Amino acid sequence: MKVMLIKNTSLGQLIKGRLDDLADSSSGEYIWRPSFSEEYMKAAELLRTWLAEEGFMVYVDPVGNIFGRIEGETDRVALFGSHLDTVKDGGKYDGAAGIVTSMTAISRTVKRLGKPRKSIEVVALVEEEGSRFLSSYTGSKAIMDKIGFDNLSETDSDGISICEAIRNAGLDGWNEEAFAKTARSDIDSFVELHIEQGPILENKGLDIGVVTSIVGLCSYYVTIRGKQNHAGTTPMSMRLDPVAAASEFIVGMTEYTKAVSDTAVFTVGGIHAYPGISNVIADSVKLELDFRDGVGGALDEIRAELRQQAECLEAQGFDVDIDIRCDEDPVSLDPGIVDMIDDSVRECGLKYMRMNSGAGHDSQIFADKVPTGMIFIPSHDGISHSPLEFTPEEDLARGEMVLEKVIEKLAY
Ligand code: HGY
Ligand code: MN
Ligand code: MN
Repeated sequence: MKVMLIKNTSLGQLIKGRLDDLADSSSGEYIWRPSFSEEYMKAAELLRTWLAEEGFMVYVDPVGNIFGRIEGETDRVALFGSHLDTVKDGGKYDGAAGIVTSMTAISRTVKRLGKPRKSIEVVALVEEEGSRFLSSYTGSKAIMDKIGFDNLSETDSDGISICEAIRNAGLDGWNEEAFAKTARSDIDSFVELHIEQGPILENKGLDIGVVTSIVGLCSYYVTIRGKQNHAGTTPMSMRLDPVAAASEFIVGMTEYTKAVSDTAVFTVGGIHAYPGISNVIADSVKLELDFRDGVGGALDEIRAELRQQAECLEAQGFDVDIDIRCDEDPVSLDPGIVDMIDDSVRECGLKYMRMNSGAGHDSQIFADKVPTGMIFIPSHDGISHSPLEFTPEEDLARGEMVLEKVIEKLAY
């Protein structure tokens, strides 16, 4: 079976070529496809062209999710795909690899087996990363009826709301009536192929990760407000310095996370002091936090500790504002779908393991409403959210071959 897979490097080259083309939609010095941006819409246009060329019926929903559909005997849908947006200065594979491999696998399977029993769709989801709107998962949440029209009022760093961005992109989801049509109840399954974004598969020499659970993920803005003053004339004993307070908070939360669970992670991705000059004791400091833990982990305890530490700061006289932007619990994926992927990998004669995802994915938004599974392919050196992100063509081809088996099981 391996020989067949090696012959399929042309398959890997096809997929890789399309990922290169999508990456080229970012004209600047790095890859960044913030949802609804010019770069994003260019990639979306390219994707729609490929889908039409491959014989899909192409449509875009009110919030910008792009679908390619193959009609089946029934209207029930086996959905595949991933997200089209990227982080800033990201890689070519995060999200896009799942879309392109799914499109390729569906097209090859339909050519081989003809009209499916269920309709099959591939989706390019919008705004998974939260790289423009921190709440993240806008596209998948809209499909799963997990956000309301008022959620579209969230603004990006330029003060543009999701609603305005949708309208500026020429979509009709800015209109509440149209937005309401985004939610779907015809989806029977969702399977997302994604790069692992970690080192495990490559380090173990494995081809595929069969994902069993996805980490719970919290993105908070914490703003600590103190008393702005002169850096030279204010004695240390008379200060209410939010930056000093923030450093204690960061160390406290980091040490707590290490102690409470060996799978939890706590990251301060951004520290913004205002006014941010050396001879001024800051008025305030805004921290951009990301913390996570898996199924059976300690996410609730970390949430509680964060509040506890905030209350301690308030007792010292600081004002603390916690703005929760994303707050997703860990999820277990559907055992039936997981087994189906497991079987498919073995039928392809590939080396694999079952594993948890330390990264968040749209699949966690589908998972409590629709039987959902994920397929991981290796990330070279475990690198992701970086221009150094890389997955060899052979691995892209192997992922596609597994997807073909899963499509056959789910839609024929
Ligand atoms: O942040 C994540 O885990 C995902 O890549 N959005
Ligand atoms: Mn991703
Ligand atoms: Mn990502």
